[in-house]
Amino acid sequence: MDNIFGSFDDLIAVRPIEHLGCQDLSFGGQLSPSLKVVEDGGASGCGGKVWIAGELLCEYILEKTPRDKLLGAILPESSGVMCNILELGSGTGIVGLCVSLLAQQHHFPGETHVNITDIGMLVPLMQDNILANGVGDSTEATELLWGTTLTKQHHNIDLVLAADCVYLEDAFPLLEDTLLQLTSGSEHQPMILMAYRRRRKADRRFFQRIRKHFDVIEVTDFTRHSQYLKSRTHLFELVRVH
Ligand SMILES: C[S@@+](CC[C@H](N)C(=O)[O-])C[C@H]1O[C@@H](n2cnc3c(N)ncnc32)[C@H](O)[C@@H]1O
Repeated sequence: MDNIFGSFDDLIAVRPIEHLGCQDLSFGGQLSPSLKVVEDGGASGCGGKVWIAGELLCEYILEKTPRDKLLGAILPESSGVMCNILELGSGTGIVGLCVSLLAQQHHFPGETHVNITDIGMLVPLMQDNILANGVGDSTEATELLWGTTLTKQHHNIDLVLAADCVYLEDAFPLLEDTLLQLTSGSEHQPMILMAYRRRRKADRRFFQRIRKHFDVIEVTDFTRHSQYLKSRTHLFELVRVH
């Protein structure tokens, strides 16, 4: 509709129309039923849409899960009785939900518990996504602010997942603190998988910081590694050393 200034459309802040609604992600038919991801286009923060590093991590997990054991090629040492997974900065919850759906799809023996976490504002969106995928029995969405003291619920984690969480310089020390807390126990060290899209030079400072405590090992043994590299998107395993 036109007014004296022209069109009303010009006066209304434009919301991104990509990444609104619900995506069905089957990852080439590997997930059936497919993963449903409700996105809000960023209305509840940048996590309200799916990011490329999240897709990379899903693809990696799918590729490394044989039919008989959830995450079998990622956590070969685990007994398979219980798998406790924590995702940091989950946004829509895409990566954690992919694991939950995979566990459900293949009826993996043993229990899987997945905690998808982010800032409080994103918890309702993550809960919607848990419902959309029917994985409420194994999956919960909670607030976990990096840099805050972790609770008992975050002990005994087998696998920590983080996709596209290195992008905000102010948050680097907070994310580092959370990773240090998660790996502070001497007995049970979780595996940490971090998918990362390189955007600016400052990101290097995050990796410089964490190298004081972690070996940062680039993971390259997956099919679409070279395609992701073209988008400057990498996968790292972090191993606590100091
Ligand atoms: C670029 S998005 C990635 C979302 C999702 N992992 C993906 O790959 O689609 C980064 C996420 O980190 C979360 N985040 C940023 N700072 C945080 C903090 N201090 N504590 C917890 N989460 C934070 C954001 O809310 C957002 O969901």
